[in-house]
Amino acid sequence: MAAHFGMIGLGTMGRNFLLNVADHGYEVCGYDREPAQQKRLLDEARGKKVNAAFSLSGFLQSLQTPRIVMLLVPAGKIVDAVLTDLLPLVQKGDIIIDGGNSHFTDTERRYLQLKDSGIHFMGMGVSGGEEGARLGPSLMPGGNKESYELVKEILGSVAAKSDEGPCVSFIGNTAAGHYTKMVHNGIEYAMMQLISEVYSVLKIAGQFNNAELHELFSAWNKAELQSFLIEITADVFLKKDEGTGEDLVDMILDKAKQKGTGMWTSQSAMDLNVPIPSIDAAVTMRYLSALKDERVSNAALYSSGNSNSPVTKEQLAGLCKNALYFGFLLAYGQGLHLLHIASAQYYYGINISEVVRVWKGGCIIRSVMLNDLRKAYSQDSNLTSIISSPVFQPVLSNLRKDVADVLKISIDHHLAVASLAASLHYFDAFTTNRLPANLIQAQRDYFGAHTYERIDRPGTFHTEWESKPVAGAK
Ligand code: 6PG
Repeated sequence: MAAHFGMIGLGTMGRNFLLNVADHGYEVCGYDREPAQQKRLLDEARGKKVNAAFSLSGFLQSLQTPRIVMLLVPAGKIVDAVLTDLLPLVQKGDIIIDGGNSHFTDTERRYLQLKDSGIHFMGMGVSGGEEGARLGPSLMPGGNKESYELVKEILGSVAAKSDEGPCVSFIGNTAAGHYTKMVHNGIEYAMMQLISEVYSVLKIAGQFNNAELHELFSAWNKAELQSFLIEITADVFLKKDEGTGEDLVDMILDKAKQKGTGMWTSQSAMDLNVPIPSIDAAVTMRYLSALKDERVSNAALYSSGNSNSPVTKEQLAGLCKNALYFGFLLAYGQGLHLLHIASAQYYYGINISEVVRVWKGGCIIRSVMLNDLRKAYSQDSNLTSIISSPVFQPVLSNLRKDVADVLKISIDHHLAVASLAASLHYFDAFTTNRLPANLIQAQRDYFGAHTYERIDRPGTFHTEWESKPVAGAK
């Protein structure tokens, strides 16, 4: 019998996704350039309707038409290489889904390349890691609605389920799916950074040990911070290192790696002039973490911070919980603001409330906070920033003081809580009616005649500023 669904790329993600599709009653076939991967797939399939092909042409022959071919291969040149091999062998009406973390401009290019050929190309964000792929990921497909309709049933059956149904939806035109996944990852970077910052405050300023941190994060995961990232963090603090018997977290080198999706989010936000400083700070802190040797030698040159905490452990835990909530909210808010602007700029037609629904299950940034975000965007689909939403206004005003208290303690202890600080400054700037940017405008006009606007009448103005120093004069 011909298979309903094919997968190219049988690494863990590809194998798991394919087994997930098979679990839902579909016949599937997998192909990888590396024959050992086909064998692993068949070993893991155990009695399911799973086939493996050892040539690309054999793979394509095994699929019913129109063929549904998903790619889960590393983003970048490999996707283009696979497409080069694949395109001569597929036909009009077939559907190719790129499920990797491709850059949205690559997806746009590939979509346009195939647009007139009658071959459907979809860029689909897949979140949830290996376990998500196996048991239910959050799926963010983009391209065109017609293609989506052809795969909607399969995607709906394999996706994670939340109280609002399958965590998949047609996200929008061309590269909207991959753009949305990129923003998801930017938010993921910020949330992970914020958690690590609060960890440092609790550990250094609060003297919490790992067992206490486990207890605290487990308790947080039962209330308003409930989320995948808080849950796994609680688990991390419990894990022992088999070799040394120490807590594993303490044995891990403090250099955070990255594959670049957080950086792409920051780059795109800069291009679109959208402020997402909590995410930017998270990306930058990964770079700073990587400068380990320099950090170690610099540390010997400067004194370290104060070690007394002005508050009790219990008070500090309460402050950190609220600071984390505030930071998480603004990370989501900044990411969604970017998505809102990008959607308009690139004609994606993204429904933000629907994106929030898709993120409620299966993905790395899933949390109960998304219920309130969904409410805010359902009430106002044109909401630019969550700061102006009545759903969040009282929450953010109440939490501000606790965030400031955590920052003060961090500064005294020389702890770099860059993402949390960026969140507070973003909030303060975004809720201030007069920023000192008037002075920047004056300076620009002074040295470059760049002109300025006035507060009392419309127009652009230039001033011959008095007592201009002569360049080069002492
Ligand atoms: C997901 C994740 C995933 C990402 C990893 C690693 O949604 O399942 O975002 O796609 O690749 O989190 O990302 P970094 O290596 O950049 O940290």
